[in-house]
Amino acid sequence: MKATATELAPGVYWVGAIDWNIRDYHGYTLPGTTYNAYLVVGTEKVALIDNTYPGFEKQLLARVREIIDPAKIDLIVANHVEIDHSGGLPGMAKLIPGVPIYCTAAAVTGFGRHYSTEGWNFIETKSGDSVNLGGKTLVFLEAPMLHWPDSMFTYLAEEKILFSNDAFGQHIASAARFDDQLGKDEALLHARKFYANLLTPLARKVLKKLEEVGTLGIEIRMIAPSHGVIWRSYVADLLGAYVNWSKGVSKDKVTIVFDTMHHSTDMMAQALAEGIMAEGVDVKVCILKDGKVEGTHRSNIVPEILESKAVLVGSPTLQDEVYPTVADFLSYLRGLRPGKLEHKKIGFAFGSHGGKGGAIHYITDSLRTAGIEVINEGFEVHYRPDGSELDRCFEMGRDLGRRVKAL
Ligand code: FEO
Repeated sequence: MKATATELAPGVYWVGAIDWNIRDYHGYTLPGTTYNAYLVVGTEKVALIDNTYPGFEKQLLARVREIIDPAKIDLIVANHVEIDHSGGLPGMAKLIPGVPIYCTAAAVTGFGRHYSTEGWNFIETKSGDSVNLGGKTLVFLEAPMLHWPDSMFTYLAEEKILFSNDAFGQHIASAARFDDQLGKDEALLHARKFYANLLTPLARKVLKKLEEVGTLGIEIRMIAPSHGVIWRSYVADLLGAYVNWSKGVSKDKVTIVFDTMHHSTDMMAQALAEGIMAEGVDVKVCILKDGKVEGTHRSNIVPEILESKAVLVGSPTLQDEVYPTVADFLSYLRGLRPGKLEHKKIGFAFGSHGGKGGAIHYITDSLRTAGIEVINEGFEVHYRPDGSELDRCFEMGRDLGRRVKAL
């Protein structure tokens, strides 16, 4: 096959793969993605940074071949073990026997659990280690848990390019290789979804790493992540957004998440939203479905929560349990823990039932586990909400709106 490389700077090329078809990646809906890899050509050595998901190796090799014979790559930098960045590594290790593979000690262990690595020439790296390619110096910076324990960043000192792997990535398949080709708003929107779904529980580590980079005085002209567009025009906007997301800085906004059997919980959601809006507070009402309908998947809803000061969750009670779609969402929310960031979030539960109820207790417990401050015991109605119960929802919405404005 034929495929072209994209030059980031003299001697630095994007040689990754575009996956136009992927729509689900470990529970995250996405409009395709890219597996970014980079070729850095020095006067003495050539380095390949990162790799692709299994099955995309030919695309990567075709792009490399535009620049050099892949067999002439002198060393490989493996910033992260996860298979979307290492799927082609076994093939490269076979193509270039003994090629040095620079990665963290945790990555050596991780690769050993993914592949048969006998004979692979690992060079374990620590923060501050570097390799000189001839006029181009790669400096390594361990970044554990961004996204796995093995993760690291690689910094090209002369060009001031940070190869950040998952951090600062976005899941999008596009002809655009750079942020300004996609547009600032769209690039940041995809970065927010990526952050909300992958990095929220790691926010403290993100902040610490950003502070460490600041302390080291590393100047960053370009951020080249392993997914999505390369940041060259909106680096400052992106770094500012990462600080805000990591601290949980939110808008005067409420996200209402619910599912409904016969529209009773839906009616309550609408009345709550009206009360919130009556206070001039923004609201996003999100019905949960199986994700086949645009915008109803949990991974599309958590970015709304990331930028909201309050979260309401509604569910019918089905067979004395929370509704299955809501249970799915709450499991995801508990793992992400968006309420445990520096800026708190508040919320409560609501719903309808035809028996003894109980879903709101499950929701309340889950909200607390997710770090969200529960401000009341929730509101559950029998069968359909009547006029006075809808009025109560409206007033609960108003009260919440006032509290949001006071936060
Ligand atoms: Fe894109 Fe942690 O893999």
